[in-house]
Amino acid sequence: MCASSRKLFWLIVALLAALASVVGLNAALNPAQKHMSGQACPSCHLPGNEVNKENAHLLVAPQEKLCAEACHTNSVQISHPSGIHPALAVPSAYPLDWKGDMTCSTCHNVHGNTPGLMRGSARGRNLCLSCHDRGFFDKMADQGMSMISSGHMSSATAKIDLSGLDVDPFTVQCMGCHGDYTDKLGTTIDSKQVLRHADKSVSHPIGQRYSASFMKGRYRPESSVNQKLFLPDGRLSCVSCHQGYTKEHGKLRMSNRGSALCFECHDI
Ligand code: HEC
Ligand code: HEC
Ligand code: HEC
Ligand code: HEC
Ligand code: HEC
Ligand code: HEC
Repeated sequence: MCASSRKLFWLIVALLAALASVVGLNAALNPAQKHMSGQACPSCHLPGNEVNKENAHLLVAPQEKLCAEACHTNSVQISHPSGIHPALAVPSAYPLDWKGDMTCSTCHNVHGNTPGLMRGSARGRNLCLSCHDRGFFDKMADQGMSMISSGHMSSATAKIDLSGLDVDPFTVQCMGCHGDYTDKLGTTIDSKQVLRHADKSVSHPIGQRYSASFMKGRYRPESSVNQKLFLPDGRLSCVSCHQGYTKEHGKLRMSNRGSALCFECHDI
C-alpha cells in the first residue's frame, strides 16, 4: 500500500468505526417498546381498543388495583401514599386522576419508555420537593434520606451484601444505614441472626420464618397478629415492628405500651 492509499484505508476504517458507533448509539437510543403496549387494552380501559387521551381515564378499577395488585406487588408493600386525596397543592405536571386522587400515574408515565417511567425530569430530592417543602424532610430523623431515591421501599431491591445473613430485602435497606459495618449508627445483626439495637432497646431474632416459630408453640397464629405488623415474605424484619416510608422515620407500627407490640406475636 502506498502512503496515500494507506491513509485512505485508515480513513475508511475510522469512518466505519464512527458509523458503527452511531448505529450502536441509535440502537441504545431507539425508543424501547412502550410499557404495556403488548397488553390487552380492555383489561384496564373501559373504551377497550378505542382508548385515546380523552377517554383513557375511564378505567375498570383504581390504579392501586390495576398496577399494584396485578404486577407490582413488590413495589407497593411499603410505599409513598397512593390513591389518596392530596391535602397539599400538587403541580399540574403531576396530574391527579378524575376523582382528584394522587395515584400511580401522578408520578409515573404509565405508557412511557424511559427508565423508571417517571414524569418530568426532576429526580431524587428535587422530585420530592416538587410537592413537599424542605421543612417536611428537615423534621425527619434521617432527613428523608431513606426515601428520596424512590417512591417505594422495594422488596425486590437488596443492594447491600449482609455477608451471608438470611434476612429480607427491607432489613437489608435499613441496615444499609443502621448497620455498624456502614456508617455506624450501631445496630448489629450477629451470625445467629440476633438483632441488637444500638441503644439497647429490645434484642430480637431477625430473618426467621414466623410460621416455623409458630409450630414450636407460644406464638399467636399469624392470622390473628395485628394487621398493622408486617412479616415480609412471612419473616421477622425491621419493618415487622417499625414503619418504613413515613414522615415519622422509624416509628413503631403500633404502641408498645405495656409491651402491647410484643404480645401481638408472643403468647406467653
Ligand atoms: C394495566 C392497565 C393498563 C393497560 C393494560 C393499558 N393501559 Fe393505558 N393507561 C393505564 C393507566 C392507569 C393510564 C393513566 C390513566 C389516567 O391518566 O387517568 C393509561 C393511560 C392511557 C392513555 C392516555 C395517555 C397516556 O399515555 O397516559 C392512552 C392513550 C392509553 N392508556 C392507551 C392504551 C392502549 C392503546 C392500551 C393497549 C395497548 C393500553 N392503554 C393498555 C393503564 C393501562
Ligand atoms: C410520589 C410519586 C410516586 C407515586 C405516587 C408512585 N410512584 Fe412508583 N416510583 C416513584 C419513583 C421516584 C420511583 C423510582 C424511579 C427511578 O428508579 O428513577 C418509582 C419506581 C417504581 C417502580 C420501579 C421498581 C421499584 O419497585 O422501585 C415501580 C414498579 C413503581 N414505581 C410502581 C408504582 C405503582 C404501581 C404506583 C401506584 C400504586 C406508584 N409506583 C406510585 C414514585 C412514585
Ligand atoms: C406529585 C406530588 C408529590 C410528589 C412528587 C411527592 N409527594 Fe410525598 N406526598 C404527596 C401527597 C399529596 C401526600 C399525602 C399527604 C398530603 O396530602 O399532605 C404525600 C405524603 C408523603 C409522605 C407521608 C407519608 C405518611 O403518611 O407518613 C411522605 C413520607 C412522602 N410524601 C415522601 C415523599 C418523598 C420521599 C418523595 C420523593 C421521592 C415524595 N414524597 C414525592 C405528594 C407528593
Ligand atoms: C439513608 C439512611 C437510613 C436508612 C436507609 C434508614 N435509616 Fe433509620 N435513621 C437514619 C438516621 C440518620 C437516623 C438518626 C440517627 C440518630 O439520630 O442517631 C435514623 C433514626 C432511626 C430511628 C430512631 C428514630 C428517632 O426518632 O429516634 C429508627 C427507629 C430508625 N431509624 C429505624 C429505621 C428503619 C426501621 C429503617 C428501615 C425501614 C431505617 N431506619 C432506614 C438513617 C437511615
Ligand atoms: C421485635 C420488634 C423490633 C424489631 C424486629 C426491630 N426493632 Fe428497632 N426498636 C424496637 C423497639 C420496641 C424500639 C424502642 C422504640 C421506642 O421505645 O420508642 C426500637 C428502637 C429502634 C431504634 C432507636 C434506638 C436505637 O437503637 O438507636 C432504631 C435505630 C431501630 N430500632 C432500628 C431497627 C432496625 C434497623 C431493625 C432491623 C435490623 C429493627 N430496629 C428491628 C423494636 C424492634
Ligand atoms: C412480629 C411478631 C413479633 C413481635 C412484634 C415480637 N416478637 Fe419476639 N419473637 C417473635 C418470633 C417469631 C420469635 C422466635 C424467632 C425464632 O424462631 O428464633 C421471637 C423471639 C423472641 C425472643 C428470643 C427468645 C426466644 O424465646 O426465642 C425474645 C427475647 C423476644 N422475642 C422478645 C420480644 C419482645 C420483648 C418484643 C416486643 C418489643 C417482641 N419479642 C416482639 C415474634 C415477635
